[in-house]
Amino acid sequence: MSVHVVEHPLVHDALVTLRDARTQPEVFRRMAVRISLLLAAEATRDLPASPVTVQTPLAPAEGRRVSADVVVVPVLRAGLGMLDAILELIPGARVGHIGLQRDEATAIASKYYTKLPRDLSESFVLMIDPMLATGGSAVAAIDLLTAAGARTLRIICIVAAPEGVALVEQHHPEVAIYTPVVDRELNPHKYIVPGLGDFGDRLYGTT
Ligand code: PRP
Ligand code: URA
Repeated sequence: MSVHVVEHPLVHDALVTLRDARTQPEVFRRMAVRISLLLAAEATRDLPASPVTVQTPLAPAEGRRVSADVVVVPVLRAGLGMLDAILELIPGARVGHIGLQRDEATAIASKYYTKLPRDLSESFVLMIDPMLATGGSAVAAIDLLTAAGARTLRIICIVAAPEGVALVEQHHPEVAIYTPVVDRELNPHKYIVPGLGDFGDRLYGTT
């Protein structure tokens, strides 16, 4: 089972604002950051950490510091709306970029940009893309990441469709998907229903 449905009430509170057609880009961006923070906390629950000791004003205290090399990869353009949230949690993360654009008529994604950090084989890779619709973009991005050596790879999305989940499971059963919800279906234009519309357009006001 590769889907982790995140039930946290604060996640769902932010999601309903994102879904609301009245939400304007300023609030949409804020909610995208808020929900991404919460989802990332869930997706990194088992991030490797090492024991450390620090000196408080009173005494030594034992703690843990994240020891993994984390690589965050937003899928352009909508994934950029989630990036600041992840970097707020993991400021030392390395960042790769994958540019994919769905054709409006066919919904088939084509690649226009890739820039990835070197040596992903030992890294904890978080791919961020808010919408998992047909799954074509996600599978293309995972293909690029695995070809670049990624072995520990998780996807964080904000709304998923059953078709997208199934396609990722079929091509990359080892990749875990973190999402608040798997919506009902895709419409004939391959938009998620009920979904939230075009995430990138709502984020950047390009509708
Ligand atoms: C959206 C979204 C995903 C993709 C999902 O991006 O951010 O990348 O569609 O659809 P799929 O699962 O059917 O491939 P889009 O191609 O619209 O580009 P944008 O981020 O530049 O708006
Ligand atoms: N991309 C979006 O932004 N929304 C959808 O519903 C599907 C793909």
